[in-house]
Amino acid sequence: MRRYRYNLEHCEIMTPSTAPPPPPPSSSPSSADVESMLRVDHAGEYGAVRIYQAQLDILGDTLQADTLREMLGHEKEHLAFFDDILQKRGVQPTVLQPVWHVAGYALGAITAILGVPTAYACTVAVEEVIDEHYAEQERALGADEAELKKKIAQFRAEEIQHRDIALQKEAEKAPFYPVISQAIRAGSKLAIWLSSRI
Ligand SMILES: [Fe+2]
Ligand SMILES: [Fe+2]
Repeated sequence: MRRYRYNLEHCEIMTPSTAPPPPPPSSSPSSADVESMLRVDHAGEYGAVRIYQAQLDILGDTLQADTLREMLGHEKEHLAFFDDILQKRGVQPTVLQPVWHVAGYALGAITAILGVPTAYACTVAVEEVIDEHYAEQERALGADEAELKKKIAQFRAEEIQHRDIALQKEAEKAPFYPVISQAIRAGSKLAIWLSSRI
């Protein structure tokens, strides 16, 4: 009886907001799965660089230039890390890279042409998807990939920061925000799915 009561009390205390995160797995997924993770992360950062570069090219003479330049700087650092680790581990980038080269720039350019709020609506949608994607990888990677896991955690924190800046810049005031947001989220998820496979 005492034990039962203890368990109930325990359950009450362990609400989602206070529960400690589950311990990390001791080992990571198979090397093929980790290679797939690296390939898709590289593709995602490549796409992010192209999006921000296009937005900066179009909005570079506006008050948004410094913000966009700073975010682009982060994305270039993220991409450099994955460029390096792909080379070190002998992992080929996705064959779709030329597609992301064009599609990323086009997405950045079109949203920037539609105006500052739409440019930031794009940021929110893309960064939310990347946040979820990196969170999943952080959970999957084990102690044997501690360095990679640490980097992904750092990059994820910066992606969240980008999303928060975009929200402060009133991304949600973009015309047709829910439609644009859903479309970009769906496109980003499709890009992740494809890049992890080919
Ligand atoms: Fe990034
Ligand atoms: Fe980002």
